[in-house]
Amino acid sequence: MKSFLPFALPDIGEEEIAEVVDTLRSGWLTTGPKTVAFEKEFAAFIGGGARALAVNSATAGLHLALEGLGVGPGDEVITTPYTFTATAEVIRHLGADPVFVDIDPRTFNIDPEKIERAITTRTRAILPVHFAGLACEMNPIIAIARRYGLKVVEDAAHALPATYQGRMIGALDTDATIYSFYATKTVTTGEGGMIVTRDGQLAERCRVMRLHGISRDAFDRYTSTKPAWRYEVVAPGFKYNLTDLASAIGVQQLKKAWGFQRRRAEMAARYDAELADTGVIPPPHPNDGDTHSWHLYVIRLEQQIRINRDDFIERMARLGVGCSVHFIPLHLHPYWRDMYNLQPHHFPLSWQAYRSAVSLPLYTKMTEADQTRVIEAVKETIASTAAEKGQAVSLAQGSIIL
Ligand SMILES: Cc1ncc(COP(=O)(O)O)c(C=O)c1O
Repeated sequence: MKSFLPFALPDIGEEEIAEVVDTLRSGWLTTGPKTVAFEKEFAAFIGGGARALAVNSATAGLHLALEGLGVGPGDEVITTPYTFTATAEVIRHLGADPVFVDIDPRTFNIDPEKIERAITTRTRAILPVHFAGLACEMNPIIAIARRYGLKVVEDAAHALPATYQGRMIGALDTDATIYSFYATKTVTTGEGGMIVTRDGQLAERCRVMRLHGISRDAFDRYTSTKPAWRYEVVAPGFKYNLTDLASAIGVQQLKKAWGFQRRRAEMAARYDAELADTGVIPPPHPNDGDTHSWHLYVIRLEQQIRINRDDFIERMARLGVGCSVHFIPLHLHPYWRDMYNLQPHHFPLSWQAYRSAVSLPLYTKMTEADQTRVIEAVKETIASTAAEKGQAVSLAQGSIIL
């Protein structure tokens, strides 16, 4: 019996381990020199003169960015229902309301054409999510924001590294971009996140608010010539700072980020080629000038395959392959559904996308043989379902004949 192939695994090498050991030996565990280095290197990686502020999750980063931009009670923030709840929950933390706008069914990204209709006198910001690591159509989103005087905060939890029209996500003309270093992300620190912004005032507010609203962080207090004990609380802040233990991992992971992206792109291309005859719909490809981070490889099960998505995942698990679903749209979850009286058909394209979407394993720790296993399992699952239903199967003809 072969071992189970998990849906995702981090790619941690000896470099990360050595850097963490170095941090442990250094005596400085919380936010300190490794975090300062990680932020500096991250800012350089993104380019465009951005500042980078490390936080302990993307959720924290999104919260801080919206808070720093002045989103508060009574405000509305336009976002997508096709995301993880973190994107929208932080809006609620600030007493504001998310206003959901349905997706482009091809990319699963927010549909810019629908954004304008959702704007009201309460709208303060637009929060697009680069789903799976494929850039949203940012030009129209930025143009709408300019026209209505709105802020734009990008949820780039999936998008490291990714580009839009030749420019790095994080270096576009938006107010802030937030990354996640959660364990399954393209670059990880276990838990962690980064705020990237070119707005000096916002950066300063985030810096202070990530550590209790204290004007000086611990490292600054202990390395500066001013007395270490003196600090001032200037606001009721949060405990969102990233530890040096986590930043040590991040410093080494970041060096590998483009290598990871190339490997993921290669693997995505292999899935595209080898699943082409199975009748599953492959994920969309980036436009010319865009780079996909390939955080996720999300296939859609065509209706003609006549296999229920949940059934598909269960059969794949029985064959030893872990799959996942990104995402259960927010309006289907009890909290969001009841809070805003939402029905599945209110966002029909998100609902439809959810019902057919399966995320296949795609990570750099996978071997060629692991990927072969996934491909074979997809073929076997489709073939066995069809056979059980008494249907003739013709993989060679590029579709399943029912
Ligand atoms: C789209 C999106 N936004 C935000 C987050 C939150 O990231 P974190 O776990 O770093 O807070 C996630 C995490 O999965 C996500 O997928």
